Amino acid sequence: MKIVKSTNLKAKPDFTKLGFGKYFTDHMLVMDYEDGAWKEPEIVPYAPFEMAPASNVLHYAQGIFEGAKAYKNKEGKITVFRIDDNFKRMNRSAERMCMPTFDSEKVKKALFELIKLEADWIPTEPGTALYIRPTMIANEEVLGVHASHKYRFFIILSPVGSYYANGMKPTKILVEEHYVRAPLGGTGEAKCMGNYAASLYAGEKANKLGYDQALWLDSNEHKYVEEVGSMNMFFVIGDEVVTPALVGSILPGITRNSCIQVLKKYGYKISERRISMDEIVEAYNNGQLKESFGSGTAAVISPVGVIGYKGVDMVINNAEMGPITAFLYDKITGIQNERYEDEFGWITEIK
Ligand code: COI
Repeated sequence: MKIVKSTNLKAKPDFTKLGFGKYFTDHMLVMDYEDGAWKEPEIVPYAPFEMAPASNVLHYAQGIFEGAKAYKNKEGKITVFRIDDNFKRMNRSAERMCMPTFDSEKVKKALFELIKLEADWIPTEPGTALYIRPTMIANEEVLGVHASHKYRFFIILSPVGSYYANGMKPTKILVEEHYVRAPLGGTGEAKCMGNYAASLYAGEKANKLGYDQALWLDSNEHKYVEEVGSMNMFFVIGDEVVTPALVGSILPGITRNSCIQVLKKYGYKISERRISMDEIVEAYNNGQLKESFGSGTAAVISPVGVIGYKGVDMVINNAEMGPITAFLYDKITGIQNERYEDEFGWITEIK
């Protein structure tokens, strides 16, 4: 594989004050698709791309991405979490968006070379990781609305801390009753760029009203909980942990799946089903809404302290992290940081 090393290495940021997605490493992986085939992946210095202003992705948003994380322990051992699942999902997103699928084994090998080259960029402070952002964009220079014939796949790396500015402090979310993230039959279960652009308006609205994020409801009845956009949602109602079923408009989160597997294995009652706001309000009024949290690669496990709905702020568990949320956070980050045995086979060592 061709590797072009940067001759101008950047100064590393303060790994104790990273925030999310603000710093990028010295190199990136690039792989182009032309004439019906992918070329070989290359590692090159991280730098702006040159793109034609008519490139399809800039007009019609034919683009997809993923989010994964790499970790380094005190002995310098480097690992990645469930990366095969990310590439599988990315290939499913590619099919949904009429983009070419790729050989995930080949890309994984190239990614591992990139991560090894950037080993000094992997933070080891608690709550930090090297965020991996695989992305694919359409870059044929033509304005007709059809699937592109040219694509660029790239992976950039970013040392990250907590996704939310307030770290593990429970978040406030506002139920969005008018706008929707994705209709049934739409692109909701693909990790495509347009889903995120479509979410911004309600997100900004929620921010202006003092909430961290918008919580999306289903597009048909505006009744059933879907997800938050950067996180899948979980609710603890009595002794049941509930997460919305993957009906087609919800992203099949890899951390969501990790939570379900951990909860099942450790004897919790976990249901994937439809859950309405009426049920949540009723559980809240009866004192049965014990906890709520979101899951995501960036957000990890993020407690939800307040859900705003129809002018009422439902304060959950005194706006403190509850025991099931804390258990999952500890278990999943413990597996990622090797404090716990990898009992689910989620970790791959990069050698
Ligand atoms: C992730 O959790 O990795 C995501 O892609 C969500 C968000 C940062 C866009």
